Amino acid sequence: MMKEGEHPFEPFRMKTVEHISLTTRGQRQQALEQAGYNLFNLPADKVMIDLLTDSGTGAMSDEQWASLMRGDESYAGSRSSQRLSESVNRIFGFKYFLPTHQGRAAEGILATCLLKEGDLVPSNTHFDTTAANILARGGTPTNLVIDASKDPNDPNPFKGDIDIERLDEFLEKHQSRVPFCMVTVTNNAGGGQPVSLSNIEKIHNLCNAYEIPFFIDACRFAENAWLIKQREPGYENWTVESIAHRMFSLSDGATFSAKKDALVNIGGLLLMNDEKLYQNAKNELILREGFPSYGGLAGRDIDAMATGLIEGVDEGYLAYRTGQVKWLHDELKNRGVPVLSPPGGHAVYIDAGAVLPHIPATDFPAQALTVEMYLEGGVRTVEIGSVMLSFISPENGKLVTPLLELIRLALPRRTYTESHLRHVIETAVSIVEKAQEINGMEIIEAPELLRHFSAKFCWKNSVSPTR
Ligand SMILES: Cc1ncc(COP(=O)(O)O)c(C=O)c1O
Repeated sequence: MMKEGEHPFEPFRMKTVEHISLTTRGQRQQALEQAGYNLFNLPADKVMIDLLTDSGTGAMSDEQWASLMRGDESYAGSRSSQRLSESVNRIFGFKYFLPTHQGRAAEGILATCLLKEGDLVPSNTHFDTTAANILARGGTPTNLVIDASKDPNDPNPFKGDIDIERLDEFLEKHQSRVPFCMVTVTNNAGGGQPVSLSNIEKIHNLCNAYEIPFFIDACRFAENAWLIKQREPGYENWTVESIAHRMFSLSDGATFSAKKDALVNIGGLLLMNDEKLYQNAKNELILREGFPSYGGLAGRDIDAMATGLIEGVDEGYLAYRTGQVKWLHDELKNRGVPVLSPPGGHAVYIDAGAVLPHIPATDFPAQALTVEMYLEGGVRTVEIGSVMLSFISPENGKLVTPLLELIRLALPRRTYTESHLRHVIETAVSIVEKAQEINGMEIIEAPELLRHFSAKFCWKNSVSPTR
């Protein structure tokens, strides 16, 4: 059903539609000023195409809506929690799991149970919430992704891999200070790039040798497994489910935001094999989230997650999903927009550093580009650059900055069509054509942690974008 160069055939049809308000440039300018030039502060009805995130923004299937109706709201031992157990055991295969209201709650509980001040946690690239949960408990997140991920054009099919040599050196040097090691699949903060199974095997072997638990940030495990099937020799005849099983069998546990590959609008999981950790995590869960059968979610949400987990590994769906991302990537690239290649599983990343080479990282080129995308076409994207990812290391007091200044065009699952994305492409192309006119930005106010969510900005030297 998918021809080279064509937008993939959607393996679904629409039963309900959601209205999109069309806005003028003048209305968007006004909305931006009121939002302090932070797209997180925009009212969603002022956004025409919302690619801010793929997290919890997808469309549920008719089966998932039926699950909502089937949801059993019993406080303990509900039918919905049993259905979730069946799906979780089928997909992940860990001994224990706890539901949470979303991924960061699972990260918070894991960090509370395992981390102490002064600890170090290596990963390929920690996502911002994971990094913040580690920093909030006095630990230091360390990113050890391979060098190929620094080059937006390097064709390496697994640019999410950890640099195994550096991980080995790191663990040798700091073994006693590393409570656990992580890997994010796919590597969202590093361009949504997949991690290979051979890399996961090597991380597993190293962690075993140093006796350090290994956790997977599994938000996009199904997209990662599909990309392994497509790109890693030896796995072409494996099913996505069996690849996922292999990935998880090499780890000691996982954190999971169900808002991605479980195709729901809310939910998360903390999964593990260690019984003592499970008991401690369960106590934390009861303190913060809720009873272990519902973990801060309604029974209906648990039920929809149980259904979504199985739909999320459907290979017809995954071919369409990653095909749509690839189509957008290829169209942008062919039209001269610098994008991170090869495409990952959930988003296309525009290299803002290359679009706006005259703006230094200290003047937030990627933030400026997100603002221009909105102003020009009402398209909301997100900055994945120095606003989101830089932080002061508790280890040495130095500013840690990201490798690249990117903006992410995250595709909500089963939501937008080819014509919506054609509008996105035209918007990006018109910005690239007048890139020289775009100015850098300054932060006016920002909190210490997770500043990209609420910081306020102005144009550098107060130059207005309404040129
Ligand atoms: C890789 C990764 N880890 C963790 C999270 C946190 O998940 P949640 O938003 O459900 O708290 C996200 C969310 O976008 C993510 O992309």
